[in-house]
Formats: sequence, structure tokens, C-alpha cells
Amino acid sequence: MTIFTASTTAPVNIATLKYWGKRDKTLNLPTNSSISVTLAQNDLRTLTSAATSERFDEDQLWLNGKLESLESERTQHCLQDLRDLRAKLEAQNPSLPSMSKWKLHIVSENNFPTAAGLASSAAGFAALVVAISKLYQLPESASEISKIARKGSGSACRSLFGGYVAWEMGTAADGSDSKAVEVAPQDHWPEMKAAILVVSAAKKDTPSTSGMQHTVGTSDLFQERITNVVPKRFEEMKQAIWSRDFAQFAELTMRDSNSFHATCLDSYPPIFYMNDTSRQIVKLCHQINAFFDEVVVAYTFDAGPNAVLYYLQENETKVMAFIHQVFQQNSGWDSKFSKQDLEVFSEYFTT
Ligand code: DP6
Repeated sequence: MTIFTASTTAPVNIATLKYWGKRDKTLNLPTNSSISVTLAQNDLRTLTSAATSERFDEDQLWLNGKLESLESERTQHCLQDLRDLRAKLEAQNPSLPSMSKWKLHIVSENNFPTAAGLASSAAGFAALVVAISKLYQLPESASEISKIARKGSGSACRSLFGGYVAWEMGTAADGSDSKAVEVAPQDHWPEMKAAILVVSAAKKDTPSTSGMQHTVGTSDLFQERITNVVPKRFEEMKQAIWSRDFAQFAELTMRDSNSFHATCLDSYPPIFYMNDTSRQIVKLCHQINAFFDEVVVAYTFDAGPNAVLYYLQENETKVMAFIHQVFQQNSGWDSKFSKQDLEVFSEYFTT
């Protein structure tokens, strides 16, 4: 029996301008455009292999060595779209094997511990969709394929590209213009680095999908954010990236993290993703910037208490010296916090 296979890796991306809110839940259409930085391929990534054969009797997925269900509506949506594109290709080239009708076996592995408390759905769906589109030899561009990954998990569409990526929200009701595009490749700003501070490896209490819907439905501040704040910030952040203006990029990133968490707090009942340690990291970053009288570090927090810091290579020692001082050495610099407050201290670089 012939088995056709293809493999790919997809990296984790961390939003610097947050996606928070859907205008269409089934198609995963967002209420605002967002921007992210993709971490380097060999740092945090999902490796996925897809196989298909006329002889397979059911679709199967092994995730980190365990057989998992492929039944979720989101996954089914992605598989259907990919099979439809393959069927179109087969109709144009009748000599191609009829893979669109065959079952799939998928093996997927993360190279980072799930316990690290890092969102893996973005890299996971991106890798799934790219591996199958390679297997099917689909001619569509990465932006086109990103629309399929988006249906798996919104943020997944941004993991189709390396470097600096925008997810343009689009306006079409069918989602045909809601896609990821490259803002700049990774080598445009190779000095940029990211460090992840794992404050807690526990699973988040409010998953992103339900959290954002709760905010859309109950927060007054949310309307202000999507109408007057994010559209302007989206343009400014792209400019800051293009001109490699770290101070501007950092301020926009920190302000956007704060704005997103403010809408969570403004939801009713409120949602708390950040904890005391997270807030201490925020304070510390501002203290570091004030100490050097220069913006050398930016923080951002997703739907959980863990921080991602961005800084330029040349400032690594300055930034890390402070972080270690406060969290690693029990120095008494701020006696309230110590080593125990950060479960894992890890650095992952964007280049
Ligand atoms: C806070 O992409 O996980 O990380 O589309 O429902 O799967 P779904 O949500 P998801 O939400 C990510 C939210 C965020 C911000 C971001 O990555 O832009």
C-alpha cells in the first residue's frame, strides 16, 4: 500500500497587539486586527507529520504520543477546507491520487513542556494545517492557508509566518479577507529577543475562547478599545517595526497588554489573568526603563499570568541582571518576591 507523508514545524507566536473578541464564532473572525512576533523555529514549536492512504479507515491524531480525538468542530472545519482545496486540485489534474477522499493519520509533538503554561493551540493548528496542505501539494499562498488555520484557533493564523506578523481582521462576512500577512521578516530586526517568565504552569481558569466572548458581551471599555484604540495602534506598531524603533514598539506593546487586561477587569464578573507576580514584573520593567532613562524592555501578558519580555540583544545584560536580582537571588531588593514566585525562568530567543 502506498502511504503519502509530509511534515512541518510551526512556531509559537506572541501577540504584541492582542486579538481579543470575535465578531463570528464559527469562522473565528476577530473584532480587531492584531500583530505578533513569531519565536524562532528551533525554540518553541510544534512538529507535525501527516500521512494519507487509500487503506486508512479513520482519521486519527496522536498528540505528544497520545491518541486524541479529531472530532472538535474547529478541527473538522480545517480538515474539510483542506479536503475541498485538494478536491479542486484533483478535478483540475485527474492524474493526481484522490487524497481528498482518503483518511488522514496525524502525529504532532510540542518541543516545550505542556506544563510550561504556554498557549500551544496557535503552533498546533498552524502545524496541522501546513502539514496537510504540504501533503496535498496545495498551491495556495501562506496567507490563503492562514485563513484555514484561523478557523482552528484565531491566533494560529499568525504562526504561518516567521518574524513580525499582522492578522488583518478583514470586513467580509465569509472571512475571505481575514488573514495573516508578513509585516517584516525575522532578519529585518535580528537584535530583537524575547524571554518568557513562567509565573505559573497551571491551566488558565478562563480559556481564551470563552473569556473573550464574556468581554465582548459585558465590558463597556471593550467598544472603546476596538473602535478608537486598536486601529490607530495597529498602524503605529507596524511603523515602529519597519523603522526598528524599539522605544515606540515597546511602549505600544506594554500599553496594549495593559489595555487588553483592563477590558478583562472591566468584564462583569471580571476576569483576572495576571496575578501579584505578574504585576510585580510590570512594575519592575518600568523601574528598569526609568533606571536607564531609556526604554530597554517591554512586557506583554496573554490569557494567563506568564510574562513575555522583549528587549534588544545589546540590553540583555541590563534587563536580565534586574530580573535575576529580584526573582532569583532572594536579594531583598524587593523582599516580597523571591525565587518561588517564578516556577520556571526560561529565555527563548526570537533569532
Ligand atoms: C490573549 O487564538 O487562543 O493570546 O481563536 O478562541 O482559539 P481562539 O483564541 P486564541 O486567543 C488568543 C488570545 C491572546 C491574544 C493573541 O494571541 O492575540
